[in-house]
Amino acid sequence: MGMNIPKTAIVIPGASGDLAQRKLVPALDILYRQQRLGPDPILVGSGRSSFTTESFRERFNVSTEFARHLYYHQGISGIKSFIDSRGAFERIVFFLSLPPAAYGDTAQEIAAEGFGDETSIILEKPFGYDSASAHELNSRLAPYFDEQRIFRIDHYLAKEAVQNILVFRFANSIFYPVWNNRYIDSIQISALENEGIVERGAYFDHAGIIRDMVQNHLLQLLCLLTMEAPVSLDPDDIRAQKITVLRSLRIDRCHRYQYRGYHDGKGVAPGSTTETFAELQLSINNFRWTGVPVYIRTGKAVHRRGTEIGIRFKPVPPLLFNHNGALPPNQIVFKIQPAEGIILDIQSKIPGTDDSISRSTMNFCYRDVFAGTIPEAYQRLLYDVLRNDHTLFVSARESEIAWDVVGPVLHTTDIEPYEPGSLPAGKLPVDWIDFDGYQGLCG
Ligand code: BG6
Repeated sequence: MGMNIPKTAIVIPGASGDLAQRKLVPALDILYRQQRLGPDPILVGSGRSSFTTESFRERFNVSTEFARHLYYHQGISGIKSFIDSRGAFERIVFFLSLPPAAYGDTAQEIAAEGFGDETSIILEKPFGYDSASAHELNSRLAPYFDEQRIFRIDHYLAKEAVQNILVFRFANSIFYPVWNNRYIDSIQISALENEGIVERGAYFDHAGIIRDMVQNHLLQLLCLLTMEAPVSLDPDDIRAQKITVLRSLRIDRCHRYQYRGYHDGKGVAPGSTTETFAELQLSINNFRWTGVPVYIRTGKAVHRRGTEIGIRFKPVPPLLFNHNGALPPNQIVFKIQPAEGIILDIQSKIPGTDDSISRSTMNFCYRDVFAGTIPEAYQRLLYDVLRNDHTLFVSARESEIAWDVVGPVLHTTDIEPYEPGSLPAGKLPVDWIDFDGYQGLCG
């Protein structure tokens, strides 16, 4: 385990921030204790604040063994010699825990320190604000870091139930023949949150839910669901297929909503028309999927938290058990979170009747099948960076094309209100799968 990780220095510019404290350093502590950080690693925090090694170590609630590997260096300038003075590191990884506006300058500063090919950078979304700014960001990074040394995080890709989508599709022969427009009626993706924007108004008000969730997380889910089989599991082959899906996407309808009381949030501009909920209808214009609508809805401050993907199949012919055409179609629901599972809806005869039929479900629930807890996304992502595995990261091209997809609806201002704690009534011509009805399944 972790045997092939070289001697590594991890540097976190922005280490005094919330992300380092809540997610990154705890995840690295776990990886360290699992012996997955390579021999004698160091973690160097960096930022504008001044800390001594001791006061920096005291900020984190980590194991005493791991705490001994933590250091602090003020600013980027001089960080190369600081690292060199601690040993010869074969790999250096910078996790930019910074506002995206600082990515370009920081990449340049890191390069100016004289780091070479052993150095990679990890970036969090958002990668740009629209297509033009995404291109600009990528072209600012490119002179210093080639694509193989940039890791763009989309934490949805690290969710176990998301990683399982390709396994479900390409490791099971029975679904493969029906995964197309001959058998599938619609694809429905629902990603709901009960919390509002909380303390993130300053960021969110400039973004809105389409930039925040659709451009990245939800289009990535759609790619995994609908891409062709890659030639191999090599990250470049998988990315190539995702790019092909993205290039064939078009948004046919989009409706934007905002919860009442949103304007009271800190950092929200008066009169803001930023959407906190959106519903979209898309088409995938290729041979496999043409004619199958994709519906996406996502938003904050609704009645519950949960991400589900539903595949609705076409109905059986209006004969026999379906003579009145009312028999519900088969459905597959991927429960991504909070409880992971896959549910197949089928029709079954009610015992003791002649031909009364009721809907029943075949359930695969992670908690019943797999023991142990599911690792945190950052644990997986950081480990993959150390192993130099790009599979769960987003390429420049994917991100740019995803911006092109959402581009046409980024600047609309029509907005409808909804009550916090409830789902907006919705205007798409869709009969949504009753995802709420699956909540009891899988815990
Ligand atoms: C982030 C968004 O990328 O994803 C947040 O910026 C959102 O606004 C979050 O709440 C949702 O992630 P998860 O893992 O809780 O579904």
